[in-house]
Amino acid sequence: MLQYWPLIAVAAVLMTVEGAALGGFAYLIQPLFDDLFAAGSMSGVAWVAFAIAGLFLLRAIAGFTQRLMITWIGLNVTTTLQTRLVNHLLALDMRFFSDNAPGALIERVRGDTAALQNLAASVLMSVGRDTVTVISLLTVMMISDWLWTLTALIGLPVMVVPLLMLQTFIRTTSRKAREAAARLSTRLDEMFHGVQAIKLNRLEHHIETRFFGEARSYLRHMFRAQIGVASNPALIDVVAAIGFVAVLYYGGAQIIAGEKTVGEFMSFFTALGLIFEPLRRLSNIVGQVQAAVASLDRLYAVLETKPTILPPATPNPITPGAIRFDEVAFGYDEAEVLKAISFVAEDGQTTGIVGPSGAGKTTIFALLTRLVDPQSGQISIGGTPIDTVDITGLRDTVAVVGQETALFDETIAQNIRLGRLDASDADIMQAAKDAGVWDFAEHLPDGLDTLVGPRGSSLSGGQRQRVAIARAMLKSAPILLLDEPTSALDARSENLVQAALERLSKGRTTLVIAHRLSTIRDADKIIVLDRGRVVEEGTHDALMTADGAYAKLHALQSAGIDPDL
Ligand SMILES: Nc1ncnc2c1ncn2[C@@H]1O[C@H](COP(=O)(O)OP(=O)(O)OP(=O)(O)O)[C@@H](O)[C@H]1O
Ligand SMILES: [Mg+2]
Repeated sequence: MLQYWPLIAVAAVLMTVEGAALGGFAYLIQPLFDDLFAAGSMSGVAWVAFAIAGLFLLRAIAGFTQRLMITWIGLNVTTTLQTRLVNHLLALDMRFFSDNAPGALIERVRGDTAALQNLAASVLMSVGRDTVTVISLLTVMMISDWLWTLTALIGLPVMVVPLLMLQTFIRTTSRKAREAAARLSTRLDEMFHGVQAIKLNRLEHHIETRFFGEARSYLRHMFRAQIGVASNPALIDVVAAIGFVAVLYYGGAQIIAGEKTVGEFMSFFTALGLIFEPLRRLSNIVGQVQAAVASLDRLYAVLETKPTILPPATPNPITPGAIRFDEVAFGYDEAEVLKAISFVAEDGQTTGIVGPSGAGKTTIFALLTRLVDPQSGQISIGGTPIDTVDITGLRDTVAVVGQETALFDETIAQNIRLGRLDASDADIMQAAKDAGVWDFAEHLPDGLDTLVGPRGSSLSGGQRQRVAIARAMLKSAPILLLDEPTSALDARSENLVQAALERLSKGRTTLVIAHRLSTIRDADKIIVLDRGRVVEEGTHDALMTADGAYAKLHALQSAGIDPDL
């Protein structure tokens, strides 16, 4: 904002010129009537006519330039604010994103900043220009007759209380309107994400009805807020009506009595006629300010939310090595998901994690990458506790293939490149081949340059998974976390990708979560998790011999029964 001060100063000068021009105009009316018309001086009238034309021309140029300058500043400030907001949002915890729906957040970044921009522009413009106009016209009025001036404004004190009450009304209704807008965006976001589920369950009518309800609610709140905003200038009109009547009675009598000239009256009346328009605009601004305060509050609420997962003040260097969980307890809320679990994943080896759905397997990865922090216990990599190293450094050390693959609406190649932004095309092709992406991409007309659609929707589940694996391969980090990396693949692709993953995990510390036990059969160690506890660990053979939980899972899967069902 600071860098715009010179621009704002120039705009303010232009606004003063624009505002003062009207005062000058009203001022010229008096000699026109009293001296020139009365004396019948045509050349004098021509002079005044040119002076008035000049004033309006000046006003046009000043107004045009000033408006563009203010719009330019408004647009730039909004863009900066939006960028700052996005920066801030990206630094917030995963928790924040579970609590705040994407639609509502989009509404904050777009809608609330836009509301502010409209305001900033019109406030700067009106306040600057209209205050000067009002002051210059008021001066002309005072010069004419200060008693008339007081008479003209007689209606103002009566309206002060209603005007103040109106401001509170506008602020409350605007806040409700912004909240309704956020709900509307959330609904839309959910609707378009879930369009398949809606169609398959034939929920179109249900969703439409619900949407209509939200839209009506938005309309209602918005309209109420606008009633408030529109009432401001209306109240000023009432003040104007009272003022005109008072002046006409009082001033009219003086003219008839010959105490004042017609020119004085005309000049005063012109100023009075002109003053109410900027006054109405100013009162309209007051309403808009109230509406924008509602948006401002919401933006501040976001900016004041601080991330709780913070990097240490003096970070330790991270040296990749064995991953150790020491009495780590964690819950997303009161319910404990992991109950003081301890295990070691040895350096350079592959450790499998198995266990029923909801056991807490994916949560282990979230803890290890510091998407969430444990309530107690310690996690370390290569002997260094992970909360003492830089978060970005930690995440650079780890490549994750998640359970839900996150693709962006770009090409396959661009999606793979997200693993390492400076990778060469040859590196990308290599990763695509290793992960089995090239297997399907070579048959596409655009090859790796094929667009994958929003969230990868134009690829099959297994294809998306392979792109995510290629991304992890390209990242080539010393620690590899795989959350059911082959779950969406058919037997042939699974074999291909499995072989590639084995090559990739060679020499890297790898954690693999698997439902299908065949995936981790050859792991150096297998950890069996159940309801937040490590119930068993050992190699496949050792666990089979022990004949415990793992052996039971194995027997069920061999019989073709999924233990989760
Ligand atoms: N963001 C979250 N907020 C609240 N609870 C969560 C969240 N994510 C997971 N949970 C809960 O934590 C528990 C463990 O979830 P987790 O995702 O770790 O299970 P999992 O072992 O990976 O299961 P699956 O095999 O089905 O992927 C579950 O009971 C789940 O309800
Ligand atoms: Mg999981």
